[in-house]
Amino acid sequence: MTVNVVVGAQWGDEGKGKVVDMLTEHADVVARYGGGANAGHTLVVNGRKTVIRLVPSGILQDKPLCVLGSGMVIDPAVLRTELETLASYGVDTSAKRVLVSEHAHVVLPYHVLIDQLREAGANAIGTTKRGIGPAYEDKVGRRGVRMIDLLDGARLRARVQHAVEAWAPTILNLGGEVPAIEPILEAYSAHGQALRPLIGDATERLHQAVERGESVVAEGAQGSLLDIDHGTYPYVTSSTVLASGAASGLGIGPTAISKVIGITKAYATRVGSGPFPTELHDALGERIRQRGGEFGSVTGRPRRCGWIDLVALRHATRLNGMTELVMTKADVLEGLETIRVCVAYEAGGQRVQRLPAALDGLSAVYEDLPGFSGNLSGCRGLADLPEGLRRLVALTEAATGVPITWLSVGPEREQSIRLR
Ligand code: GDP
Ligand code: IMO
Ligand code: MG
Repeated sequence: MTVNVVVGAQWGDEGKGKVVDMLTEHADVVARYGGGANAGHTLVVNGRKTVIRLVPSGILQDKPLCVLGSGMVIDPAVLRTELETLASYGVDTSAKRVLVSEHAHVVLPYHVLIDQLREAGANAIGTTKRGIGPAYEDKVGRRGVRMIDLLDGARLRARVQHAVEAWAPTILNLGGEVPAIEPILEAYSAHGQALRPLIGDATERLHQAVERGESVVAEGAQGSLLDIDHGTYPYVTSSTVLASGAASGLGIGPTAISKVIGITKAYATRVGSGPFPTELHDALGERIRQRGGEFGSVTGRPRRCGWIDLVALRHATRLNGMTELVMTKADVLEGLETIRVCVAYEAGGQRVQRLPAALDGLSAVYEDLPGFSGNLSGCRGLADLPEGLRRLVALTEAATGVPITWLSVGPEREQSIRLR
């Protein structure tokens, strides 16, 4: 059993990119299993920041094959730009390092158009407007275009025609203009030709990796509370974010997975609409936003900031079968007088210790920990941490029942403290 899954434990942007980069130094394969260019994973290596949206976060390491898995929805235009940018940094983006599953679905211009039109209306949920929802709708509606279809002109024409006909009334209803098919066919055939060397049988490659006992990291995107089945519906993304999505999205059996590593910040953030019981609407929230650089890596939107929520985190731990946690951005709490930790909710005078399907009307119950000042970079282990952080680690481990193996104290690879 060789597959380790890295999954966001909150609402996304927990620092998965940094952790995947760190964990793939010796990996053979790193594979994204879901989502698309709604993700923004940031890598900071030797002072240079790289934000990647589609290519797995092991690409800056020398060795691992980076697989864009079957469960993804891929915007080929975004992918080509991303590959060009990486190549301009001297990164090998040839078929030696990048494999795009022929099963993965394609995000087309009408998906982006529909996402944008919907977000301009009354039922907006604050999506990234990257066409993710409509692309997954087409997949489930069995009228999607797969990466392999980009390589066959006749099939591409039939698939796009089918989808555009199906979407036309919706587009008109939303006040949009139904796009012409010919320019789409021309542009997407060209994308197919450009990406042809990278498109292949990722499922077979992953089966081989599992059978040979290679080291595989499955990279999640988004966060557990944005999962289509178990997140804060309808304020969720349209894919399976949870670790179970690594099995379905990569085409491997759940028995191939050995570790599930959840990533949580030492506080919490959320982008877009939806419930967030520990949200701070005051100067403290603004301070965390500024210190943590909490602005969307895809959309630049200010992220909503608040305290860590151990009720939600415990739920995420159970949803994923997590075996360990990595806590990031502990350095951002530096200089605060008090660190608050949500240990329960209250509703109508009752304590609630689980995450209900509707979070409205809940208020957070906090335990307060002492703040700390000074740089954490000199800390080498748990014993060196300031009291407030030690207690935060202990409370989180007690609530979730899993160990925190690493504490991240800065965006660079080296700014990580091994705790267990
Ligand atoms: P992802 O989507 O989960 O990969 O996370 P993002 O990349 O969207 O957002 C995390 C941000 O925090 C990025 O800008 C990272 O460079 C940064 N980051 C990651 N870990 C740490 C940390 O421990 N401390 C600080 N200050 N920044 C971090
Ligand atoms: P990473 O991988 C944070 C959120 C959007 C919106 C909801 C639905 O960087 O952690 P979508 O465009 O997916 O239909 O939007 O999901 N969202 C994310 N929030 N980080 C992400 O990815 C996200 N991907 C989607 O803000 O609330
Ligand atoms: Mg992100």
